[in-house]
Amino acid sequence: MILVTGATGNIGSALLGELHACGAGPLRGLTRDAARASFPEGVEVSEADFGDVASLEPALDGVRSLFLVSRMGPDADVLDAARQADVEHVVLVSSITVRTHPHLGPARENLAVERLLKDSGMAWTILRPTQFASNALWWAASIRRHQTVRVPYADTGLPTIHPADIAAVARVALTEPGHQGRTYALTGPRRVTARQQVGAIAAALGRDVPCVEIGRDEAHRHMSAFLGAEAADAVLDVTGGDVNDELLRVRDTVSQVTGSPARSFQQWVAEHVTHFRGSFGHAMASSTELPPTTGTPSGGAAG
Ligand SMILES: NC(=O)c1ccc[n+]([C@@H]2O[C@H](COP(=O)([O-])OP(=O)(O)OC[C@H]3O[C@@H](n4cnc5c(N)ncnc54)[C@H](OP(=O)(O)O)[C@@H]3O)[C@@H](O)[C@H]2O)c1
Repeated sequence: MILVTGATGNIGSALLGELHACGAGPLRGLTRDAARASFPEGVEVSEADFGDVASLEPALDGVRSLFLVSRMGPDADVLDAARQADVEHVVLVSSITVRTHPHLGPARENLAVERLLKDSGMAWTILRPTQFASNALWWAASIRRHQTVRVPYADTGLPTIHPADIAAVARVALTEPGHQGRTYALTGPRRVTARQQVGAIAAALGRDVPCVEIGRDEAHRHMSAFLGAEAADAVLDVTGGDVNDELLRVRDTVSQVTGSPARSFQQWVAEHVTHFRGSFGHAMASSTELPPTTGTPSGGAAG
């Protein structure tokens, strides 16, 4: 049994699709709300919350391989529950910032999870992705409502990765030999700036979407409301304020592990353009205005 956590998320949903398509399994997807989850046919749904260790016991029953997204709950408890359930192999999503910005709080947390996993006695594979293409979803409400995007560091190019490529690497690590005890730094195929990302979204929409550069202070004020001041600073550092050669480096790990080239940002946009559609004043009722920069609501970009 393979248990995919974060199964309704960017990576987890793509991973369940990949595992299902290649006939791996049996498969189980973990969500906090089974009623909202829509998994491929034959995939077991397990309702559990990382914050409620008792709920993890049935979720982990019979599981031999675990896909774990970090920092969604008390990782030490989750790893402990996995070890007690006799899980043999854990594929962990950590972050490139463990390597590029080890002094930042979220990176320190990820390093601590990596160490716990390595010391757990279970076999491990660690994925350290760079910032996700899906972070652009944070601009969706702004594009729908105001038809514009306001970003700091608009012309800093980062090797943004399509979450489906992280899923593809995870699928290989979970189903093929030779990936235990390995740590993979994962990036997209080329660097892309925020301005270029907005341009790609505008091209897919077939209309102009102005990209307005704002200062760090303004971005920080806005992001702090969602993330808190420290996490906002961390996200701003890793998305332009404090970049370094390691963060900028394009790596070919995705193609080395999967045999397929890493997907472009344009491909991600083509697959998700509906999120950005809608006319001024007619934003989707469920949309939430999120910080005009990169990251997930969990602050993953600074991870
Ligand atoms: N975004 C970035 O640029 C970036 C960069 C590097 C690393 N990362 C890392 O990538 C991971 C995030 O991956 P993603 O984008 O695929 O995630 P995502 O789309 O934000 O989805 C997170 C999933 O976690 C589940 N979840 C949240 N809290 C939970 C809890 N308490 N118990 C159980 N499940 C919970 C949610 O499922 P339900 O709502 O269905 O329960 C959700 O589907 C994180 O580990 C982050 O640190 C992100």
